[in-house]
Amino acid sequence: MKLLILFGGLSSEHEVSRVSASSIVRNADKEKYDLVTVGITKDGRWLLYENPDPDKMASGAWEQDACIPALLSADRSVHGLTILRDGAAQTMRIDCCFPVLHGFGGEDGTIQGLLTLAGIPFVGPGVAASANSMDKSLTKVLVDRAGVRQAAYYVALRADFEKDAQALMQGVMHTLSHFPVFIKPCSSGSSVGVHKATDLETLREGLEEAFHWDEKVMVEEFIAGREIEVAVMGNTEPVASLAGEIAPTQEFYTYDAKYKDESSALYIPARIPEEAMQTVRQNALRVYQAMGCRGLSRVDFFCTFENNEIIFNEINTIPGFTSISMYPKLFGHAGYSYPALIDALVDLAMEAQHG
Ligand SMILES: Nc1ncnc2c1ncn2[C@@H]1O[C@H](COP(=O)(O)OP(=O)(O)O)[C@@H](O)[C@H]1O
Ligand SMILES: [Mg+2]
Repeated sequence: MKLLILFGGLSSEHEVSRVSASSIVRNADKEKYDLVTVGITKDGRWLLYENPDPDKMASGAWEQDACIPALLSADRSVHGLTILRDGAAQTMRIDCCFPVLHGFGGEDGTIQGLLTLAGIPFVGPGVAASANSMDKSLTKVLVDRAGVRQAAYYVALRADFEKDAQALMQGVMHTLSHFPVFIKPCSSGSSVGVHKATDLETLREGLEEAFHWDEKVMVEEFIAGREIEVAVMGNTEPVASLAGEIAPTQEFYTYDAKYKDESSALYIPARIPEEAMQTVRQNALRVYQAMGCRGLSRVDFFCTFENNEIIFNEINTIPGFTSISMYPKLFGHAGYSYPALIDALVDLAMEAQHG
């Protein structure tokens, strides 16, 4: 089976994607898969990277190797790549794609749209579920309707902030009533542009910073709790892993805490009571289905320190996939080796397409 691994991408999570994809290249069963790796540079060039070196993928040095421009064709008769080798176009049929791309231009329905047009089965949720899950304000609406508890919120628009920041901040405080609050761009990930505000001044600074990344910004009630993550896998009958817990040593789970300092501790299972464990797994499945997901997603929650209440935070349709990431670790705990997890996800992709 020719399995296309897309990695890199345009988003602020380009580096994370490279590390996730390098783990997949290192661990996928080479007897089963003929891996085809295509890297997308930060400026959006698509390059076929033959005989991939996982270390170079992770470090970014892959771009210095001889790579060949390659396009993912929407033309169904190609069903794969058009490769521009030595000035001549060749086609390469692809059986399945694992878009190992996080954030904008990869996890947001855009790549999923191209793959859908091309008729190529792919790992992970489809166009609408990906787009709705990427936008934290749309997620809120759908999760509300599923009856799953989440933090109170206010959606702020850049145009309103530029017109009258004072009025907008009054609106925020009218809805949320007290500090601290969390500010986050609606469509970013990896904690990029996320801030905690403790007063009007830090609220204004946080909004300014967040509007840098997105024209729509979420301001949320602060939840004091453990950070709990559930891995979900499946199409029409999804299963939820046990919940895991991340205990950041920084004030919250920042970009640096996620990828730079290794001091955040990970607990599988999460240190929460049995009842909260059951609730969080049920709610993960409810969110997954409410968002219309298939394949996989990681659903993140808080479990409050005060009374172990489960509160939904966000859903990631292409979660971090390095060998030490929470998603593979949670299914590892359930008995899936990393290569077996890749197999299961590819099978689900084929099933979604061909029944
Ligand atoms: N309402 C909140 N209360 C407390 N902490 C929060 C809240 N929202 C986000 N955080 C903190 O910020 C981190 C990043 O926010 P999150 O919504 O998960 O965005 P991202 O998509 O960037 O991961 C969370 O892991 C958590 O540590
Ligand atoms: Mg998060």
